[in-house]
Amino acid sequence: MKKIAPFLSFFLFSLVCFSQTIPQEYRPQYHYTAPKNWVNDPNGLVYLDGEYHLFYQYNPFGNVWGHMSWGHAVSKDLNRWETLPVALPEFDNPDGTQTMIFSGCAVIDSLNTSGFFEKGFTKGMVAVFTSHIEGKAQHQSIAYSADKGRTWKRYDKNPVLDLGMKDFRDPNVIWYPEKQVWIMTVVKPLEYTAQFYESKDLKTWSLLSEFGKQGDMTKIWECPSLTKVPVEGSNESKWVLMISSGHRQKNYLAMQYFVGDFDGKTFTPQKQNEILYVDEGKDFYAAIPFSNLPKSHTKPIMIGWINDWEYAREIPTGDTWRGGFSVAREFSLKKTAEGFRLVQQPVAQLKSAQKEAFRIKNKVIDGVYNLPFKGEVFDLEVELRPHRAKVVTLNVFQSQGEATVIRYDVATQELSLDRTKSGQVNFHPRFSSVERVKVPLKEGKLSLRLLADKSILELFVQNGEQALTEWVFPIQHEGEISLTSEGGKANISALSIHTIR
Ligand code: FRU
Repeated sequence: MKKIAPFLSFFLFSLVCFSQTIPQEYRPQYHYTAPKNWVNDPNGLVYLDGEYHLFYQYNPFGNVWGHMSWGHAVSKDLNRWETLPVALPEFDNPDGTQTMIFSGCAVIDSLNTSGFFEKGFTKGMVAVFTSHIEGKAQHQSIAYSADKGRTWKRYDKNPVLDLGMKDFRDPNVIWYPEKQVWIMTVVKPLEYTAQFYESKDLKTWSLLSEFGKQGDMTKIWECPSLTKVPVEGSNESKWVLMISSGHRQKNYLAMQYFVGDFDGKTFTPQKQNEILYVDEGKDFYAAIPFSNLPKSHTKPIMIGWINDWEYAREIPTGDTWRGGFSVAREFSLKKTAEGFRLVQQPVAQLKSAQKEAFRIKNKVIDGVYNLPFKGEVFDLEVELRPHRAKVVTLNVFQSQGEATVIRYDVATQELSLDRTKSGQVNFHPRFSSVERVKVPLKEGKLSLRLLADKSILELFVQNGEQALTEWVFPIQHEGEISLTSEGGKANISALSIHTIR
């Protein structure tokens, strides 16, 4: 026995390592994923007392959608997340049906408008969510927590808003100081309509107005939010209404936004000649903004679900976990000749966890340039001058015959993100895809920032004027990176790569 003991323990050790490494092949390192099981939309993004909360749609029992409950994670720096126990679980109704906790938001009721908390208590958290009874009803309900979201009580007079509809969901609530009221934005998905309600106590809601039947109506409307957003280089702000709905490419999902004015009752959009999308990739959906951010954040911050319902259930991340969340992104508006446009960037906090791995300046490329860095977890920033080149490409997650290709065509000003040869693509007929967006050069320059994290790519173009988020599932994991120029020489003005600790 003595003799075989070391072999036996080595065998058991290998077994444990093996079973842990296989499903972890695609596990992101700095994007939040639940330790196990299925996740979808972020819910109740709220800041309180030094903690950022990420509640999210979660199935505690498996890695497919079902038993929807609110999972919970917290972070002190929007960077590293700690998973906490399920906050709001699905529950049984007296008639034998179940109520699932669908998407919603969380607010801090610092004036105790709800009366749920002790007199003078300023840290009460209230969750506003859709109570969903499968095949029967969707209405809005509330729950409250006096211990920073660790334990919750459901309001005993739920639901607080019920239109008797089967599809009526995803409340997002803001405090509107001018009227000292809460304003809820919620959608009737099948009618492509958002509704605005107001309440003094989070319990009684009255309809203010409706907005809808315009913009992208190729898919149902979900997860709306209304946010006051600063306009860069001015003291002005505008209101942004975001709606999760269809994608520029038919039958995929994305988020669209409208910019306009909100007077406490009605949202009036600016004239827009085109549909505006928050992120041009296939995998950014259901993002909502944080509530109650401290003043030190001068811009709103959002987090989105990385996935597309088209194939979300089949992404090959192994048996343990499925779905993930974007990094926290701050956003603002830019005034352009065509109207206001969204600009988004990863929050600065991300930098604090990084270490510089490589940097170059003013390098001419003529053909292929292989970077002296390999990896699948990095933050790459590059400023390129195509000069005489007709096409420049950035190739990442590259191995023999495999790469995700970011390509810029100077003549057409088209930037594309091509994952058709990125690795595993056949698990679903609609996964293999190329995104295309128009990106004019700025003073002859193209600037890209790519957050790569095992299986997630978040690409920010021209300092956040465009964003593209996608899953990719490399097979060979060589992690090579190259830049190419075709048809002439191009110049890399600056390039840096940071690894993430
Ligand atoms: C969006 C969504 C929401 C709903 C939730 C259910 O992804 O369909 O409309 O509340 O997911 O999990």
